[in-house]
Amino acid sequence: MAVAFLSTSCRLSKRAFSAAATGTSLPKSWYNIQADLPVPLAPPLHPGELRPCTPDDFAPLFPASLIEQEVSSERYLEIPAEVREVLNLWRPTPLRRASRWEKLLGLPGNVKIFYKYEGGSPSGSHKTNTAVPQVYYNKLAGTKKITTETGAGQWGSALAWSGGQFDLPIEVYQVKVSYEQKPYRKAFIEACGAEIFPSPSTKTAVGSKALEEDPTCPGSLGIAISEAIEACVSSEDAKYALGSVLSHVLMHQTVIGQEAIEQLAGFGEYPDVVVGCTGGGSNFAGIAFPFLGEKLRSEAAKPEIRFLAVEPAACPSLTRGAYAYDFGDTAKLTPLLKAHTLGSSFMPPSVHSGGLRYHAMAPLISHLKELGTIEAQAVQQTAAFDAGSSFFRAEGILPAPEATHAIEGALQEAKAAAAAGKSRVILFNMCGHGHFDMFAWEKYAKGQIEDFVFPEEQLKEALKHVPGLNGVNFPQPP
Ligand SMILES: Cc1ncc(COP(=O)(O)O)c(C=O)c1O
Repeated sequence: MAVAFLSTSCRLSKRAFSAAATGTSLPKSWYNIQADLPVPLAPPLHPGELRPCTPDDFAPLFPASLIEQEVSSERYLEIPAEVREVLNLWRPTPLRRASRWEKLLGLPGNVKIFYKYEGGSPSGSHKTNTAVPQVYYNKLAGTKKITTETGAGQWGSALAWSGGQFDLPIEVYQVKVSYEQKPYRKAFIEACGAEIFPSPSTKTAVGSKALEEDPTCPGSLGIAISEAIEACVSSEDAKYALGSVLSHVLMHQTVIGQEAIEQLAGFGEYPDVVVGCTGGGSNFAGIAFPFLGEKLRSEAAKPEIRFLAVEPAACPSLTRGAYAYDFGDTAKLTPLLKAHTLGSSFMPPSVHSGGLRYHAMAPLISHLKELGTIEAQAVQQTAAFDAGSSFFRAEGILPAPEATHAIEGALQEAKAAAAAGKSRVILFNMCGHGHFDMFAWEKYAKGQIEDFVFPEEQLKEALKHVPGLNGVNFPQPP
Protein backbone atom coordinates (compact mmCIF):
# COMPACT_ATOMS: atom_id res chain seq x y z
CA MET A 1 0.00 0.00 0.00
CA ALA A 2 1.33 3.40 -0.93
CA VAL A 3 2.17 5.29 2.20
CA ALA A 4 2.78 8.99 2.53
CA PHE A 5 3.88 10.34 5.84
CA LEU A 6 2.63 13.30 7.75
CA SER A 7 4.67 16.39 7.26
CA THR A 8 4.44 16.98 11.00
CA SER A 9 5.62 13.48 11.88
CA CYS A 10 9.20 12.92 12.89
CA ARG A 11 11.27 9.95 13.92
CA LEU A 12 12.59 10.28 17.42
CA SER A 13 15.48 8.20 18.59
CA LYS A 14 13.84 7.73 21.99
CA ARG A 15 10.63 8.67 23.80
CA ALA A 16 10.51 12.41 24.15
CA PHE A 17 9.27 14.00 27.35
CA SER A 18 9.72 17.53 28.53
CA ALA A 19 11.23 17.39 31.98
CA ALA A 20 9.03 18.59 34.81
CA ALA A 21 10.15 19.09 38.35
CA THR A 22 7.11 17.25 39.62
CA GLY A 23 7.68 14.20 37.41
CA THR A 24 6.10 13.21 34.13
CA SER A 25 4.57 15.61 31.67
CA LEU A 26 2.53 15.03 28.54
CA PRO A 27 4.53 13.05 25.92
CA LYS A 28 5.57 14.95 22.82
CA SER A 29 4.86 12.02 20.49
CA TRP A 30 2.35 9.24 20.03
CA TYR A 31 3.72 5.70 19.97
CA ASN A 32 2.82 3.67 16.87
CA ILE A 33 3.00 -0.06 17.62
CA GLN A 34 2.91 -0.86 13.90
CA ALA A 35 6.66 -0.11 13.86
CA ASP A 36 7.30 -3.02 16.24
CA LEU A 37 4.86 -5.67 15.02
CA PRO A 38 6.60 -8.99 14.28
CA VAL A 39 4.02 -9.64 11.53
CA PRO A 40 2.32 -6.69 9.74
CA LEU A 41 -1.38 -6.08 10.06
CA ALA A 42 -3.68 -7.53 7.36
CA PRO A 43 -4.83 -4.64 5.13
CA PRO A 44 -8.40 -3.35 5.09
CA LEU A 45 -10.29 -4.55 2.00
CA HIS A 46 -12.47 -2.49 -0.33
CA PRO A 47 -16.08 -3.58 0.37
CA GLY A 48 -17.05 -3.85 -3.32
CA GLU A 49 -13.84 -4.98 -5.01
CA LEU A 50 -12.29 -7.03 -2.18
CA ARG A 51 -8.79 -5.68 -2.84
CA PRO A 52 -6.60 -3.92 -0.27
CA CYS A 53 -7.82 -0.36 0.26
CA THR A 54 -5.70 2.56 -0.90
CA PRO A 55 -5.61 5.84 1.05
CA ASP A 56 -7.98 7.25 -1.63
CA ASP A 57 -10.67 4.79 -0.59
CA PHE A 58 -10.80 6.43 2.85
CA ALA A 59 -10.75 10.00 1.51
CA PRO A 60 -14.54 10.55 1.61
CA LEU A 61 -14.51 9.82 5.35
CA PHE A 62 -11.21 11.06 6.80
CA PRO A 63 -8.71 13.86 6.11
CA ALA A 64 -5.45 12.78 4.43
CA SER A 65 -3.40 13.44 7.58
CA LEU A 66 -5.37 10.87 9.61
CA ILE A 67 -5.30 8.33 6.75
CA GLU A 68 -1.51 8.74 6.66
CA GLN A 69 -1.35 8.10 10.41
CA GLU A 70 -3.55 5.00 9.97
CA VAL A 71 -1.01 3.32 7.69
CA SER A 72 2.18 4.85 9.08
CA SER A 73 4.99 2.58 10.21
CA GLU A 74 6.92 5.39 11.94
CA ARG A 75 7.51 4.48 15.59
CA TYR A 76 6.82 7.96 16.95
CA LEU A 77 4.61 10.70 15.48
CA GLU A 78 4.90 14.17 16.90
CA ILE A 79 1.84 15.57 18.70
CA PRO A 80 1.16 19.03 17.23
CA ALA A 81 1.68 21.91 19.67
CA GLU A 82 -1.97 23.04 19.23
CA VAL A 83 -3.17 19.58 20.32
CA ARG A 84 -0.75 19.38 23.27
CA GLU A 85 -1.94 22.78 24.42
CA VAL A 86 -5.51 21.43 24.75
CA LEU A 87 -4.52 18.03 26.19
CA ASN A 88 -2.45 19.86 28.81
CA LEU A 89 -5.70 21.00 30.42
CA TRP A 90 -5.97 17.58 32.10
CA ARG A 91 -2.78 15.69 31.16
CA PRO A 92 -0.68 14.13 32.48
CA THR A 93 -3.41 12.21 34.28
CA PRO A 94 -2.77 10.78 37.74
CA LEU A 95 -1.36 7.33 38.34
CA ARG A 96 -2.18 6.11 41.83
CA ARG A 97 -1.58 3.06 43.96
CA ALA A 98 -4.95 1.66 45.09
CA SER A 99 -3.65 1.21 48.65
CA ARG A 100 -7.02 1.56 50.36
CA TRP A 101 -8.64 -0.90 47.95
CA GLU A 102 -5.74 -3.36 48.44
CA LYS A 103 -6.42 -3.12 52.21
CA LEU A 104 -10.17 -3.57 51.77
CA LEU A 105 -9.49 -6.69 49.69
CA GLY A 106 -7.06 -8.01 52.32
CA LEU A 107 -4.22 -8.38 49.82
CA PRO A 108 -0.70 -9.20 51.02
CA GLY A 109 1.90 -6.40 50.69
CA ASN A 110 3.55 -8.03 47.69
CA VAL A 111 0.39 -7.80 45.56
CA LYS A 112 0.16 -4.18 44.45
CA ILE A 113 -2.51 -2.52 42.32
CA PHE A 114 -1.91 0.74 40.46
CA TYR A 115 -4.38 2.58 38.25
CA LYS A 116 -4.20 5.38 35.74
CA TYR A 117 -7.20 7.70 36.03
CA GLU A 118 -8.58 9.14 32.77
CA GLY A 119 -11.85 10.46 34.23
CA GLY A 120 -10.51 13.98 34.77
CA SER A 121 -10.83 14.91 31.08
CA PRO A 122 -13.53 17.41 30.01
CA SER A 123 -15.88 14.59 28.96
CA GLY A 124 -14.96 12.23 31.81
CA SER A 125 -13.04 9.54 29.92
CA HIS A 126 -10.03 8.72 27.75
CA LYS A 127 -12.02 9.46 24.57
CA THR A 128 -10.98 13.14 24.57
CA ASN A 129 -7.36 12.05 23.96
CA THR A 130 -8.24 11.19 20.36
CA ALA A 131 -11.18 13.57 19.87
CA VAL A 132 -8.91 16.62 20.14
CA PRO A 133 -6.39 15.57 17.47
CA GLN A 134 -9.14 14.26 15.15
CA VAL A 135 -10.94 17.60 15.24
CA TYR A 136 -7.63 19.46 14.87
CA TYR A 137 -6.59 17.56 11.71
CA ASN A 138 -10.09 17.93 10.23
CA LYS A 139 -10.01 21.67 10.86
CA LEU A 140 -6.63 21.94 9.12
CA ALA A 141 -8.04 20.02 6.14
CA GLY A 142 -10.99 22.40 5.75
CA THR A 143 -13.72 20.03 6.97
CA LYS A 144 -16.96 21.92 7.71
CA LYS A 145 -18.75 19.31 9.88
CA ILE A 146 -17.91 15.97 11.55
CA THR A 147 -20.48 13.19 11.98
CA THR A 148 -20.06 10.35 14.43
CA GLU A 149 -21.79 7.65 16.43
CA THR A 150 -21.63 7.11 20.16
CA GLY A 151 -22.62 4.24 22.43
CA ALA A 152 -22.65 5.26 26.07
CA GLY A 153 -22.19 8.90 25.06
CA GLN A 154 -18.57 9.22 26.17
CA TRP A 155 -17.18 9.46 22.65
CA GLY A 156 -19.95 11.78 21.46
CA SER A 157 -19.31 14.06 24.44
CA ALA A 158 -15.56 14.03 23.82
CA LEU A 159 -15.95 14.90 20.13
CA ALA A 160 -18.61 17.53 20.87
CA TRP A 161 -16.35 19.27 23.40
CA SER A 162 -13.34 19.03 21.10
CA GLY A 163 -15.38 20.49 18.21
CA GLY A 164 -15.78 23.59 20.35
CA GLN A 165 -11.99 23.91 20.72
CA PHE A 166 -11.50 24.32 16.98
CA ASP A 167 -14.90 25.76 16.07
CA LEU A 168 -16.07 22.74 14.05
CA PRO A 169 -19.76 21.60 14.10
CA ILE A 170 -20.36 18.04 15.33
CA GLU A 171 -23.37 15.74 14.61
CA VAL A 172 -23.77 12.71 16.89
CA TYR A 173 -25.89 9.54 16.47
CA GLN A 174 -26.27 7.88 19.86
CA VAL A 175 -27.40 4.25 20.32
CA LYS A 176 -31.03 4.63 21.40
CA VAL A 177 -30.92 2.51 24.55
CA SER A 178 -28.10 4.68 25.95
CA TYR A 179 -29.73 7.92 24.72
CA GLU A 180 -32.78 7.06 26.80
CA GLN A 181 -30.87 5.82 29.85
CA LYS A 182 -28.49 8.81 30.01
CA PRO A 183 -30.35 12.05 29.29
CA TYR A 184 -27.49 14.16 30.65
CA ARG A 185 -25.16 12.98 27.90
CA LYS A 186 -27.53 14.65 25.43
CA ALA A 187 -27.54 17.77 27.59
CA PHE A 188 -23.72 17.72 27.74
CA ILE A 189 -23.39 17.34 23.97
CA GLU A 190 -25.88 20.15 23.35
CA ALA A 191 -24.11 22.34 25.92
CA CYS A 192 -21.01 21.95 23.73
CA GLY A 193 -23.03 23.35 20.82
CA ALA A 194 -23.27 20.00 18.97
CA GLU A 195 -26.32 18.14 17.59
CA ILE A 196 -27.40 14.69 18.80
CA PHE A 197 -29.97 12.14 17.50
CA PRO A 198 -31.08 8.76 18.90
CA SER A 199 -30.10 5.88 16.59
CA PRO A 200 -31.89 4.33 14.77
CA SER A 201 -33.27 7.66 13.61
CA THR A 202 -35.45 8.74 10.72
CA LYS A 203 -32.72 11.14 9.54
CA THR A 204 -31.06 8.43 7.44
CA ALA A 205 -32.21 5.63 5.14
CA VAL A 206 -30.34 3.07 7.28
CA GLY A 207 -32.05 4.25 10.47
CA SER A 208 -35.49 4.39 8.85
CA LYS A 209 -35.08 0.80 7.58
CA ALA A 210 -34.04 -0.45 11.04
CA LEU A 211 -37.10 1.24 12.59
CA GLU A 212 -39.38 -0.20 9.90
CA GLU A 213 -38.11 -3.70 10.69
CA ASP A 214 -38.36 -3.21 14.46
CA PRO A 215 -39.96 -0.02 15.82
CA THR A 216 -38.64 -0.90 19.32
CA CYS A 217 -35.05 -1.48 18.09
CA PRO A 218 -32.68 -0.48 20.98
CA GLY A 219 -29.98 0.35 18.43
CA SER A 220 -26.41 -0.87 18.25
CA LEU A 221 -23.05 0.71 17.50
CA GLY A 222 -23.16 -1.05 14.11
CA ILE A 223 -26.37 0.79 13.13
CA ALA A 224 -25.21 4.12 14.59
CA ILE A 225 -21.95 3.91 12.59
CA SER A 226 -23.95 3.29 9.39
CA GLU A 227 -26.10 6.34 10.12
CA ALA A 228 -23.12 8.59 10.83
CA ILE A 229 -21.38 7.43 7.63
CA GLU A 230 -24.53 7.98 5.56
CA ALA A 231 -24.91 11.46 7.07
CA CYS A 232 -21.26 12.19 6.26
CA VAL A 233 -21.27 11.10 2.61
CA SER A 234 -24.57 12.82 1.89
CA SER A 235 -23.41 16.18 3.18
CA GLU A 236 -20.86 18.41 1.46
CA ASP A 237 -17.47 19.00 3.12
CA ALA A 238 -18.40 16.70 6.02
CA LYS A 239 -16.10 14.01 7.38
CA TYR A 240 -16.64 11.17 9.80
CA ALA A 241 -14.79 10.38 13.03
CA LEU A 242 -14.52 7.12 14.94
CA GLY A 243 -13.74 6.92 18.67
CA SER A 244 -12.08 3.51 18.65
CA VAL A 245 -11.09 0.48 16.47
CA LEU A 246 -8.89 2.24 13.87
CA SER A 247 -5.12 2.20 14.33
CA HIS A 248 -4.67 5.99 14.45
CA VAL A 249 -7.31 6.23 17.19
CA LEU A 250 -5.50 3.60 19.26
CA MET A 251 -2.23 5.45 18.68
CA HIS A 252 -3.67 8.73 20.01
CA GLN A 253 -4.40 6.94 23.29
CA THR A 254 -0.77 5.94 23.85
CA VAL A 255 -0.18 9.11 25.85
CA ILE A 256 -1.73 7.05 28.69
CA GLY A 257 0.82 4.23 28.69
CA GLN A 258 3.80 6.49 28.00
CA GLU A 259 2.94 8.59 31.04
CA ALA A 260 2.36 5.42 33.08
CA ILE A 261 5.85 4.07 32.30
CA GLU A 262 7.42 7.23 33.71
CA GLN A 263 5.05 7.49 36.65
CA LEU A 264 5.46 3.85 37.71
CA ALA A 265 9.22 4.25 37.48
CA GLY A 266 8.76 7.07 40.01
CA PHE A 267 7.30 4.44 42.36
CA GLY A 268 10.25 2.15 41.53
CA GLU A 269 7.84 -0.33 39.90
CA TYR A 270 7.16 -2.04 36.57
CA PRO A 271 3.95 -4.01 35.98
CA ASP A 272 3.70 -7.79 35.77
CA VAL A 273 0.32 -7.38 34.14
CA VAL A 274 -1.47 -4.49 32.41
CA VAL A 275 -5.29 -4.64 32.36
CA GLY A 276 -7.90 -2.68 30.41
CA CYS A 277 -11.52 -3.09 29.37
CA THR A 278 -12.20 -3.51 25.65
CA GLY A 279 -15.11 -2.30 23.55
CA GLY A 280 -13.27 -1.40 20.36
CA GLY A 281 -9.88 -1.59 22.07
CA SER A 282 -8.67 2.00 22.36
CA ASN A 283 -8.20 2.55 26.09
CA PHE A 284 -6.64 -0.89 26.49
CA ALA A 285 -4.26 -0.08 23.62
CA GLY A 286 -3.53 3.29 25.18
CA ILE A 287 -2.26 1.85 28.43
CA ALA A 288 -0.85 -1.40 27.05
CA PHE A 289 0.92 -0.55 23.76
CA PRO A 290 3.84 1.51 25.13
CA PHE A 291 4.67 -1.37 27.54
CA LEU A 292 4.02 -3.97 24.82
CA GLY A 293 6.33 -2.06 22.48
CA GLU A 294 9.07 -2.38 25.10
CA LYS A 295 8.40 -6.12 25.29
CA LEU A 296 8.43 -6.52 21.50
CA ARG A 297 11.73 -4.62 21.31
CA SER A 298 13.17 -6.74 24.19
CA GLU A 299 13.47 -3.59 26.33
CA ALA A 300 10.89 -4.43 29.01
CA ALA A 301 12.15 -4.31 32.60
CA LYS A 302 10.09 -7.49 33.10
CA PRO A 303 10.30 -9.57 29.89
CA GLU A 304 7.37 -11.75 31.02
CA ILE A 305 4.99 -8.79 31.35
CA ARG A 306 1.41 -9.81 30.40
CA PHE A 307 -1.50 -7.88 28.88
CA LEU A 308 -5.12 -8.66 29.72
CA ALA A 309 -8.11 -7.32 27.76
CA VAL A 310 -11.40 -7.63 29.65
CA GLU A 311 -14.72 -7.64 27.78
CA PRO A 312 -18.38 -8.23 28.74
CA ALA A 313 -19.70 -11.80 28.49
CA ALA A 314 -22.72 -10.24 26.74
CA CYS A 315 -20.57 -9.00 23.83
CA PRO A 316 -17.56 -11.33 23.75
CA SER A 317 -15.84 -10.47 20.45
CA LEU A 318 -12.27 -11.33 21.52
CA THR A 319 -13.10 -14.49 23.47
CA ARG A 320 -15.89 -15.97 21.31
CA GLY A 321 -15.77 -14.13 17.98
CA ALA A 322 -14.28 -15.43 14.75
CA TYR A 323 -11.02 -13.87 13.49
CA ALA A 324 -12.05 -12.91 9.97
CA TYR A 325 -12.68 -10.08 7.55
CA ASP A 326 -15.99 -8.37 8.38
CA PHE A 327 -17.80 -5.06 8.00
CA GLY A 328 -17.53 -2.46 10.74
CA ASP A 329 -21.21 -1.51 10.54
CA THR A 330 -24.63 -3.03 10.06
CA ALA A 331 -25.35 -1.51 6.63
CA LYS A 332 -22.01 -2.83 5.27
CA LEU A 333 -20.79 0.62 4.20
CA THR A 334 -17.29 0.37 5.74
CA PRO A 335 -14.19 -1.37 4.38
CA LEU A 336 -13.70 -4.94 5.57
CA LEU A 337 -11.37 -5.18 8.56
CA LYS A 338 -9.69 -8.38 9.73
CA ALA A 339 -10.58 -8.68 13.39
CA HIS A 340 -12.40 -10.75 15.99
CA THR A 341 -16.08 -10.35 15.17
CA LEU A 342 -19.47 -11.56 16.31
CA GLY A 343 -20.89 -10.62 12.90
CA SER A 344 -21.92 -7.13 11.82
CA SER A 345 -25.59 -8.10 12.20
CA PHE A 346 -25.01 -8.96 15.88
CA MET A 347 -27.40 -7.14 18.23
CA PRO A 348 -25.84 -7.18 21.70
CA PRO A 349 -28.10 -7.34 24.78
CA SER A 350 -28.80 -3.94 26.37
CA VAL A 351 -26.10 -4.15 29.05
CA HIS A 352 -25.16 -1.02 30.96
CA SER A 353 -21.70 -0.77 29.43
CA GLY A 354 -22.89 0.89 26.23
CA GLY A 355 -19.29 1.53 25.16
CA LEU A 356 -18.52 -2.20 25.17
CA ARG A 357 -21.46 -3.18 22.92
CA TYR A 358 -19.57 -3.39 19.61
CA HIS A 359 -19.59 -6.51 17.45
CA ALA A 360 -15.89 -6.39 16.55
CA MET A 361 -12.50 -5.54 18.01
CA ALA A 362 -9.75 -3.25 16.72
CA PRO A 363 -7.68 -5.04 14.03
CA LEU A 364 -4.48 -4.25 15.99
CA ILE A 365 -5.80 -5.81 19.21
CA SER A 366 -7.15 -8.84 17.33
CA HIS A 367 -3.85 -9.31 15.50
CA LEU A 368 -1.88 -9.15 18.77
CA LYS A 369 -4.27 -11.67 20.34
CA GLU A 370 -3.72 -14.03 17.37
CA LEU A 371 0.05 -13.60 17.79
CA GLY A 372 -0.32 -14.64 21.44
CA THR A 373 1.01 -11.34 22.83
CA ILE A 374 -2.18 -10.38 24.66
CA GLU A 375 -4.79 -12.36 26.61
CA ALA A 376 -8.53 -11.83 26.80
CA GLN A 377 -11.17 -12.62 29.36
CA ALA A 378 -14.96 -12.12 29.43
CA VAL A 379 -16.70 -11.12 32.67
CA GLN A 380 -20.32 -10.79 33.72
CA GLN A 381 -21.70 -7.35 34.51
CA THR A 382 -22.81 -8.20 38.08
CA ALA A 383 -19.24 -9.24 38.98
CA ALA A 384 -17.92 -6.11 37.25
CA PHE A 385 -20.33 -3.82 39.17
CA ASP A 386 -19.42 -5.57 42.48
CA ALA A 387 -15.73 -4.93 41.82
CA GLY A 388 -16.44 -1.31 40.74
CA SER A 389 -18.49 -0.73 43.88
CA SER A 390 -15.76 -1.94 46.24
CA PHE A 391 -13.20 0.16 44.33
CA PHE A 392 -15.47 3.23 44.69
CA ARG A 393 -15.83 2.74 48.44
CA ALA A 394 -12.09 2.47 48.94
CA GLU A 395 -10.68 4.88 46.34
CA GLY A 396 -13.48 7.46 46.02
CA ILE A 397 -13.97 7.26 42.25
CA LEU A 398 -17.30 6.01 40.92
CA PRO A 399 -16.35 4.14 37.73
CA ALA A 400 -18.11 4.13 34.38
CA PRO A 401 -19.75 0.70 33.86
CA GLU A 402 -17.20 0.02 31.09
CA ALA A 403 -14.31 0.66 33.48
CA THR A 404 -15.73 -1.79 36.05
CA HIS A 405 -14.70 -4.59 33.68
CA ALA A 406 -11.04 -3.59 34.00
CA ILE A 407 -11.47 -3.33 37.77
CA GLU A 408 -12.89 -6.87 37.89
CA GLY A 409 -9.99 -8.10 35.72
CA ALA A 410 -7.47 -6.46 38.06
CA LEU A 411 -9.28 -7.92 41.08
CA GLN A 412 -9.12 -11.46 39.67
CA GLU A 413 -5.41 -11.03 38.93
CA ALA A 414 -4.79 -9.82 42.50
CA LYS A 415 -6.75 -12.66 44.09
CA ALA A 416 -5.02 -15.29 41.94
CA ALA A 417 -1.57 -13.91 42.88
CA ALA A 418 -2.48 -13.78 46.58
CA ALA A 419 -3.84 -17.35 46.49
CA ALA A 420 -0.67 -18.60 44.77
CA GLY A 421 1.56 -16.68 47.23
CA LYS A 422 3.14 -14.75 44.34
CA SER A 423 4.25 -11.11 44.14
CA ARG A 424 2.44 -9.14 41.46
CA VAL A 425 2.33 -5.54 40.29
CA ILE A 426 -0.98 -4.93 38.51
CA LEU A 427 -1.66 -1.81 36.47
CA PHE A 428 -5.11 -1.09 35.12
CA ASN A 429 -6.74 1.75 33.23
CA MET A 430 -9.57 3.52 35.06
CA CYS A 431 -10.79 4.87 31.75
CA GLY A 432 -13.73 6.97 32.90
CA HIS A 433 -15.97 8.09 35.76
CA GLY A 434 -19.59 7.02 36.05
CA HIS A 435 -21.26 10.31 36.95
CA PHE A 436 -23.45 10.14 33.85
CA ASP A 437 -24.24 6.48 34.53
CA MET A 438 -26.38 6.89 37.64
CA PHE A 439 -29.23 4.99 35.98
CA ALA A 440 -26.98 1.91 36.04
CA TRP A 441 -25.65 2.56 39.55
CA GLU A 442 -29.21 3.09 40.80
CA LYS A 443 -30.15 -0.32 39.37
CA TYR A 444 -27.09 -1.81 41.03
CA ALA A 445 -28.13 -0.35 44.40
CA LYS A 446 -31.56 -1.95 43.93
CA GLY A 447 -30.02 -5.33 43.04
CA GLN A 448 -31.40 -5.15 39.50
CA ILE A 449 -28.26 -5.76 37.42
CA GLU A 450 -28.66 -8.86 35.26
CA ASP A 451 -26.11 -11.18 33.69
CA PHE A 452 -26.27 -12.20 30.02
CA VAL A 453 -24.52 -14.89 28.08
CA PHE A 454 -24.85 -14.67 24.36
CA PRO A 455 -26.50 -17.92 23.12
CA GLU A 456 -24.31 -20.10 20.89
CA GLU A 457 -27.12 -20.56 18.36
CA GLN A 458 -27.55 -16.81 17.84
CA LEU A 459 -23.80 -16.42 17.50
CA LYS A 460 -23.65 -19.15 14.84
CA GLU A 461 -26.44 -17.41 12.94
CA ALA A 462 -24.70 -14.00 13.05
CA LEU A 463 -21.39 -15.54 11.93
CA LYS A 464 -23.02 -17.07 8.83
CA HIS A 465 -22.92 -13.65 7.16
CA VAL A 466 -19.30 -12.75 7.93
CA PRO A 467 -17.50 -12.33 4.56
CA GLY A 468 -14.20 -13.64 5.95
CA LEU A 469 -15.88 -16.93 6.87
CA ASN A 470 -17.22 -17.18 3.34
CA GLY A 471 -14.02 -17.14 1.31
CA VAL A 472 -13.01 -13.46 1.55
CA ASN A 473 -9.37 -13.19 2.59
CA PHE A 474 -6.05 -11.55 1.78
CA PRO A 475 -3.62 -12.46 0.38
CA GLN A 476 -6.01 -14.15 -2.03
CA PRO A 477 -5.18 -17.82 -2.62
CA PRO A 478 -3.37 -18.34 -5.97
C1 LIG B 1 -15.59 4.89 29.56
C2 LIG B 1 -15.40 3.98 28.39
N1 LIG B 1 -14.57 2.96 28.50
C3 LIG B 1 -14.35 2.11 27.49
C4 LIG B 1 -15.01 2.24 26.29
C5 LIG B 1 -14.76 1.25 25.22
O1 LIG B 1 -14.03 1.73 24.15
P1 LIG B 1 -12.53 1.36 23.93
O2 LIG B 1 -12.43 -0.13 24.00
O3 LIG B 1 -12.22 1.88 22.59
O4 LIG B 1 -11.73 2.01 25.00
C6 LIG B 1 -15.91 3.30 26.11
C7 LIG B 1 -16.59 3.50 24.82
O5 LIG B 1 -17.44 4.32 24.64
C8 LIG B 1 -16.12 4.19 27.19
O6 LIG B 1 -16.97 5.20 27.07
